[in-house]
Amino acid sequence: MARYSRIVGWGMYVPPRVITNDDLAQIVETSDEWIRTRTGIRERHIVDKPTESTATLAARAARAALEKAGLPPTALDMIILATSSPEHLFPATACIVQDAIGAVNAGAYDLSAACSGFVYALVMAHGLIVSGQADTVMVIGAETLSRLVDWSDRNTCVLFGDGAGAVILQGSEQPGGLLSSVLGSDGSGAYLLSLPAGGSRLPASLETVRNGDHYIKMDGKAVFRFATRVMAEATRQVVEKAGLTLDDIDLIVPHQANIRIIETSVVKQLKFPKEKVFINLDRYGNTSTASIPIALVEAVEQGRIQPGDHIVLVGFGAGLTWAAALVEWGPELPPPSRWRQFLYGLFYPLGRIRSAFRRIRRRFFAYWFGTRERSEEEWRRLRGEKSTSSSEPDT
Ligand code: COA
Repeated sequence: MARYSRIVGWGMYVPPRVITNDDLAQIVETSDEWIRTRTGIRERHIVDKPTESTATLAARAARAALEKAGLPPTALDMIILATSSPEHLFPATACIVQDAIGAVNAGAYDLSAACSGFVYALVMAHGLIVSGQADTVMVIGAETLSRLVDWSDRNTCVLFGDGAGAVILQGSEQPGGLLSSVLGSDGSGAYLLSLPAGGSRLPASLETVRNGDHYIKMDGKAVFRFATRVMAEATRQVVEKAGLTLDDIDLIVPHQANIRIIETSVVKQLKFPKEKVFINLDRYGNTSTASIPIALVEAVEQGRIQPGDHIVLVGFGAGLTWAAALVEWGPELPPPSRWRQFLYGLFYPLGRIRSAFRRIRRRFFAYWFGTRERSEEEWRRLRGEKSTSSSEPDT
């Protein structure tokens, strides 16, 4: 029997702190007028507490998605977290989220495809489900790019924001869900948008820090030209692949990088009605992998997506990469009963207790065998966490 994957839950979270264009004009030589007319962005949310991080934003979005789906965290088989601002090179931020939400039955990994990452992750989740290797997969896009931009570089610092969006994909025998996808890359343009240092090619050194090589570098004009071309092309291809036409598409949810990119590509090149394109970049800026899921969640919550609608999610990013997915939206599931909600709410503290117990057990074995344990205190100190009693990031 044919197997399909359907989106059964969705959630988002942005940190409360808002930075307006006028606020930025206090830091760098720019103006609200320039940013609004050149990008469409008015404000963005950014993390302002050391304890807020990519994982804490992701965990909140993940919990919201689980609550929407009426599922406990233990139902997840896999967590795929797309991010360009992982907490560390390793371990994967997805594992920190897995622990934070108590998804004790889930595998977890990060996916790096820059701003196209969420759609890439969605397609990977679909593949796991239709091949029978997983039934319920959490797909998250989460970023704290504010930690990686050079706040003295007006070419980049005005563009980005922080946030997280998540969806849950579940196997189904009912036709629908993800109908087609297009994934592409062109590494010949790797240099156009990058964070050069801190990896194995250019390890951190005094020199890399002094040169500002740990900040995002971008050729804005070249990325703009690439983006307008691939957004239109990928949309056209994904619609064709599903055996549909653009007239069948009810909503396009594009990567929210720049209003002029969206208008030049999907609106002008495809002659697609602007009122059927979802835009919220004015309030969030470019949240990279989080931009499409945040927009998707807002579109659903605003009633812009109805059961049976055909939606195109399309993005582009560093790599260079691009990605599009065509989704047939399913019927809304009945909300879980209050009793079930209460019961599932208990899974989160239980998950934390389980996690604390595992760490205590590890310490006991280290003591028993007389081995020196890799210091958890040291890990926590480096991460700016307070106690050893809980591994949950400060959500
Ligand atoms: N405020 C004021 N002036 C600024 C500025 C800012 N924040 N940033 C750049 N400028 C200046 C430039 O220095 C330049 O001045 P100059 O002509 O004296 O050199 C002028 O404005 C025009 O710059 P330009 O690069 O031509 O602007 P643009 O119209 O191409 O817009 C971007 C710049 C970055 C907004 C645009 O190229 C873009 O959005 N590119 C895609 C970036 C993107 O999406 N990246 C993420 C990919 S996921």
